[in-house]
Amino acid sequence: MNVYYLADVCSVVDRSPAVPAGVIIRPIREADIPLLAQTFRRAYGPAAAGTLSDVVAEMTAAFGGAWGALWPRASPAAWRGGQLAGAVQAVRRPSWEGAPDCPWLIDVFTDPSHRRAGIARSLIGAACRVMSAAGEPRVGLTVDEANVAAVTLYKSLGFAESV
Ligand SMILES: CC(C)(COP(=O)(O)OP(=O)(O)OC[C@H]1O[C@@H](n2cnc3c(N)ncnc32)[C@H](O)[C@@H]1OP(=O)(O)O)[C@@H](O)C(=O)NCCC(=O)NCCS
Repeated sequence: MNVYYLADVCSVVDRSPAVPAGVIIRPIREADIPLLAQTFRRAYGPAAAGTLSDVVAEMTAAFGGAWGALWPRASPAAWRGGQLAGAVQAVRRPSWEGAPDCPWLIDVFTDPSHRRAGIARSLIGAACRVMSAAGEPRVGLTVDEANVAAVTLYKSLGFAESV
């Protein structure tokens, strides 16, 4: 079941580590869509993600504001050894009815070959530093409560289920 998680932006920043050695973080841009889509598909697996063209269409829709106005500066990608290792996509406000009124991480994913190296944690930290600088006190995301890796990651950063 999907649930909303919320966190205090400052507490996420405080709990996120320095960027791992050898990793470069920069905002995503539209030209990254093909690589983002390939990495997303490897991260979720083809059965869950769908075809590459499905994922490219979804990424293109995200850049077009399908889930809220994309916040590129708060949507960092991590590069290691010239490879896209992972990314976070954030919107200024989620566009669907009933969502909390705060910036939203619409996706977080790390390529399987770069897992457990602190990539997702530092990407979320980087996104939250931009949100904090913009005066945003809270950040949210949607997670499947059966997704142990994601739930453990988010709780370790101070996220808790929205009640
Ligand atoms: C969830 C995901 C983004 C984590 O990416 P990652 O870069 O490997 O995460 P990090 O290395 O930053 O992990 C930080 C912490 O999260 C927790 N964590 C990460 N993966 C975990 C796993 N498989 N099992 C348990 N805890 C895990 C741990 O507390 C970890 O700290 P530690 O390595 O010091 O123990 C990655 O597994 C992924 O892309 N999954 C598929 C896509 C997905 O489900 N995205 C989330 C959608 S809501």
